[in-house]
Amino acid sequence: MKFASSTVNLTDAKSGCLVSSLKTASRVARANGERAAFSAATRDFDDKVGQVLMVRLPSSANVQRLLVVGGCDDKLNRDKYRKACRTAADSLSKVKSANALWTLNQTGVEKSDAAWKAATSLSALANACYEFNQHKTADTKPAALRRVSIHADDRSRSSVAKAVRQAGALKAGLDWARDLGNQPPNVCNPAYLQREARKLSRHPKVAVSVLEEKKMTELGMGAFMAVSQGSDAPGKMIIINYKGARSRATAPVVLVGKGITFDTGGISIKPSAAMDEMKFDMCGAATVLGATKAAIDANLPINLVTIVAAAENMPSGSATRPGDIVQTLSGKTVEILNTDAEGRLVLCDALTYAERYKPKAVIDVATLTGACIVALGSHASAVYANDDELSSQLVTAGEQSGDRAWPMPLWDEYQASLNSRFADIPNIGAGGAGSITAACFLSRFADKFTWAHMDVAGSAFQGGAKKGATGRPVGLLFQYLLNQANA
Ligand code: BES
Ligand code: MN
Ligand code: ZN
Repeated sequence: MKFASSTVNLTDAKSGCLVSSLKTASRVARANGERAAFSAATRDFDDKVGQVLMVRLPSSANVQRLLVVGGCDDKLNRDKYRKACRTAADSLSKVKSANALWTLNQTGVEKSDAAWKAATSLSALANACYEFNQHKTADTKPAALRRVSIHADDRSRSSVAKAVRQAGALKAGLDWARDLGNQPPNVCNPAYLQREARKLSRHPKVAVSVLEEKKMTELGMGAFMAVSQGSDAPGKMIIINYKGARSRATAPVVLVGKGITFDTGGISIKPSAAMDEMKFDMCGAATVLGATKAAIDANLPINLVTIVAAAENMPSGSATRPGDIVQTLSGKTVEILNTDAEGRLVLCDALTYAERYKPKAVIDVATLTGACIVALGSHASAVYANDDELSSQLVTAGEQSGDRAWPMPLWDEYQASLNSRFADIPNIGAGGAGSITAACFLSRFADKFTWAHMDVAGSAFQGGAKKGATGRPVGLLFQYLLNQANA
């Protein structure tokens, strides 16, 4: 599906489907000579946010369908507007027309401009229109909708056009992240992530390189290798270097993603119920890749390094045992008390590796702990940081993009729960607060730069009937990078 912008006069517009408030729809119906039919069709319509009504006009009319979106003649707050967009997008995604004209930009929204409204509308559309049918051999008719134009007035024309271009880049990154997440674990292994990441190097400002296991062993990445050694699928550290800033010397932002392509728990094996969902344990990797693609497609003037720590956590004769002690790239030793706390092990070596880029900021993204789901559920990603400004930049980017995150503490009291009798640090904490103690573990490897960690165990995928990768937090990360580019 393609996004575009349009400044057409609505009463002359030709479209398969006009998406609008009740008043605008009524005006367009009148212009098409369908006043009486329209008022009959909408007589019982409850004009509130969350309600929609599709009205078919005769095929002789300029506009074939009117998708009336409730509440949109009132001034809305951002949450209500998002909800109206979501409802409209869900219904539009099923429409049997190839193009649509979206006019919800006319709705007044508190503290928001036309560009924000366009971005919010298109991200709702990107979400609603996503499907993953690659492995189905039947019933996969492609959606009819091919092109959605966002209506702009003369004043907002250029800012809306820009928002539309950025939304196209974001959609490409988001769709890719969701596809990677949804691929089954027999397809999406570390080598698959490597092949996918390589596609980014088609862009002239991008270089992709990979550290193989042999190299990682030589470098001393004992924590990463402790996870990867139990699997027949070789682990990979995938590095994407995008030089988009005016100067190649500008300090980069570094994104680090947890890419466990399947997490059985290892010897500390998981229960079998819903274990299939542990294919989503590479969603941190998928989303840093998605955000990177979006940044590249949008040609953002920033330098960005993306590191994907890709491995499979399996039980086998060569797997790590609980009690094993390994040395990390930082030199610190770790006592692996639970092989299911593997994410922090692959990430700690990736974080130490990030030091060499002299980063402006490092942000790691990981489906790190079940405890994060207990703490925040699915509505917010958790943010931990050793820097208040970075933390608030991420929370703000979440608020702007509607892909929300919430700050969590890294206090010394929590740090104190990481005690090993036999090594420098254990890989699990004691005494609850599992998402926090996991973040405390990572913080020990992030003292040389400005750093944030996002635990996305609750936000990155859904279980149940709508099982699948959500693409979160690609929206937040892309917004953060956009803000960096504009800073
Ligand atoms: N990948 C899991 C965390 C997870 C669980 C993500 C459920 C999404 C849904 C992680 O590797 C893990 O197993 N964490 C353990 C840590 C524990 C052993 C300290 C957990 O959360 O139980
Ligand atoms: Mn695990
Ligand atoms: Zn895991």
